[in-house]
Amino acid sequence: MSPPPDALAPTAEAQAKLKPETGLKTIHVKSWGCQMNVYDGQKMVDLLAPLGYRPVDEAEGADIVILNTCHIREKATEKLFSELGRLKIAKQAKAEAGGDMILAVAGCVAQAEGPVITARARHVDIVVGPQSYQSLPELVARASRAKGEPILMTDFPVESKFDSLPEEAAPRGVSAFLTIQEGCDKFCSFCVVPYTRGAEYSRPPGDVLIEARRLALSGVRELTLLGQNVNAYHGKAADGTVWSLGRLIRAVAEIPGVERIRYSTSHPDDMDDELISAHADVPALMPFMHLPVQSGSDRILARMNRKHTAAQYLAVIERLRAARPDIALSSDFIVGYPGETETDFAATLELVRTVGFAQAYSFKYSPRPGTPASTADDAVPEAVKSYRLAQLQAAILEGQTRFNQASVGQVVPILFDRSGSRPGQLHGRSPHMQSVHTPAPGHLLGQIVPVRIADARALSLEGTLEIETPFGGIAP
Ligand code: SAH
Ligand code: SF4
Ligand code: F3S
Repeated sequence: MSPPPDALAPTAEAQAKLKPETGLKTIHVKSWGCQMNVYDGQKMVDLLAPLGYRPVDEAEGADIVILNTCHIREKATEKLFSELGRLKIAKQAKAEAGGDMILAVAGCVAQAEGPVITARARHVDIVVGPQSYQSLPELVARASRAKGEPILMTDFPVESKFDSLPEEAAPRGVSAFLTIQEGCDKFCSFCVVPYTRGAEYSRPPGDVLIEARRLALSGVRELTLLGQNVNAYHGKAADGTVWSLGRLIRAVAEIPGVERIRYSTSHPDDMDDELISAHADVPALMPFMHLPVQSGSDRILARMNRKHTAAQYLAVIERLRAARPDIALSSDFIVGYPGETETDFAATLELVRTVGFAQAYSFKYSPRPGTPASTADDAVPEAVKSYRLAQLQAAILEGQTRFNQASVGQVVPILFDRSGSRPGQLHGRSPHMQSVHTPAPGHLLGQIVPVRIADARALSLEGTLEIETPFGGIAP
């Protein structure tokens, strides 16, 4: 017989034991931008956990607030300053209540605009770049001691920051990110990443495998290996050999508990044979790939310094499909790059239709300070950019809807990773990264379960379980 509900309430003794918890200080980290920024944000929490900080969802009232910023889009800096304006009020409120809030700006805007931030927002205590946030414990200690003077740290240290990052302070759930490579040497003319993240660096495979094993032991079933240019990975092992991404994926697939592997983001120029053959041979490597192309016009691709033509991009996809016929593709596009004509744009639409992407992201070109493209004198008018973006998004949505519709009636293995939006539902992902909502009991979280797809919309699918429950019949 189950105990009455009251028996589950903590006794006074148990509550006393919990007391140290209530004395813990709190940290709120808000991350924008790419998945690598999300990984960094999680590591910031891990770094400060030994100092007694536990993560909270709200900035208001927190002892440390870190804004982990992204510089890829227009108005990134303006958005940061308006967020900082709101936090000034929260910081004042905390001070009036006799407390103290340490306010830090991290990420790529911190790297690019550090001195501007310290000069314009005097209530910011710490500005720290993506290559130096491993120093956060020391910076927080310094900020607590010396109030008033902002600390700016945007170095690119010689030693790897990864050597100074701690283990995970809390389990990462079912699906986790693992950064294996950072920085970019490609210098696409429009992009800030080579300036904010620096030169390409690959973590040694041994270190990656230790982190992957730890994550698997803590319950992670799906690992996404991350890098700004992840397929340029070339990690030097202890024995001096240099591992490609393909070799690393084969080793990660051997780890007990790792059932799904993904990687992001790749450059078409770095798809080598070892990686393509991993798609043929490693069942855990999911048949979905994000491969940004940016444009379908060779003239624009050359101006973007992308180092590939549209035909070369299509040839990479052909090789991928030969290795793994069911592979689905995603991409990034920029519309309205300086000098883009209607003919160039038509080539982009043509490429979208030729490939048939399962999903894709599209952006209006925005000049980023310090990038070669930002000084071009043949900018495309804003209205033309908007018009082209709408057309491109309609074409992408059409492909995506068609792709999702093709799943209806199929039984697909779904990894349940969180509660669904409605009660009694779980959310999961198909091998092709589709979001699937299914009525399912909570104990299936973290499991890969056959689901029959009943309905498809552009952005998500609905399904029903195809498994026998312990009570007989088909669940639920
Ligand atoms: N390293 C990844 C991601 C780079 S940023 C890659 O190489 O693909 C993610 C996407 O943002 C890019 O693929 C590009 O489509 C878009 N982007 C980057 N800079 C941009 C800019 N100045 N204007 C518009 N979109 C941009
Ligand atoms: Fe930016 Fe190009 Fe490097 Fe991607 S490959 S991060 S778009 S410079
Ligand atoms: Fe943004 Fe920096 Fe990532 S600019 S996309 S957070 S590398």
